[in-house]
Amino acid sequence: MKFTAAIALLAGSAAALPTVEPRQLGSSVGSTVNELSNGACRDITFIFARGSTEIGNFGSTVGPPTCSGLKRAYGNDKVACQGVGSPYTASVGTNVLPEGTNSAAYGEAERLFNLAATKCPNTIIVGGGYSQGAAVMVASVRRLSDDVKSRIAGVVLYGNTRNAQEGGKIPSFPAEKAKTYCNISDGVCGGGLVVTAGHLTYQVDVPDAVKFLQQRISAAGN
Ligand SMILES: *[C@@H]1O[C@H](CO)[C@@H](O)[C@H](O)[C@H]1NC(C)=O
Repeated sequence: MKFTAAIALLAGSAAALPTVEPRQLGSSVGSTVNELSNGACRDITFIFARGSTEIGNFGSTVGPPTCSGLKRAYGNDKVACQGVGSPYTASVGTNVLPEGTNSAAYGEAERLFNLAATKCPNTIIVGGGYSQGAAVMVASVRRLSDDVKSRIAGVVLYGNTRNAQEGGKIPSFPAEKAKTYCNISDGVCGGGLVVTAGHLTYQVDVPDAVKFLQQRISAAGN
């Protein structure tokens, strides 16, 4: 019953998310981005998982401006951005599963991290996720080989639905490499999947998240 109520809340509020066009946010990056899958290797690879009900494979809230921020910092053609697409469908129901998403979703994210590491032996990998997409990052990164984990410089987790369960970090992954952004008034950050107004405020955190990823990229050697 508790879960049913949570899904209703999540569905009701999350439906408001995808109406913002990325370009309105001053981002030139769209909602479907496949620069790793479809393009040549670049210095930095950013893999992002969108929130529940968000459009495309990259969403329209924090994914595009985070990618744009990295591109502004390093150069448009130095950063390859990649969304976690099908079979991750970002549906509302999978939020209530034990890891906050399903194995098809985190399996696809694992595939993309492994692809970046094998296809591009010199790229520095960073990651990000919003809402259920943060759960996708937590569940995928913890399962990667030590070798691939060592290739990931940092991961940002906006409105992290696994915040309470994992303390804002990613298990079996260096604590200093993961940063959660949780508004104190965001109900999902307490572990209850309750979407409140604070769940929709993360665009203000994008500049800090980009700065965090830049620091991690510097620490990794670029
Ligand atoms: C947190 O969310 C509230 C809305 O509930 C908003 O007014 C406030 O600006 C947010 N704070 C930050 C730091 O984003």
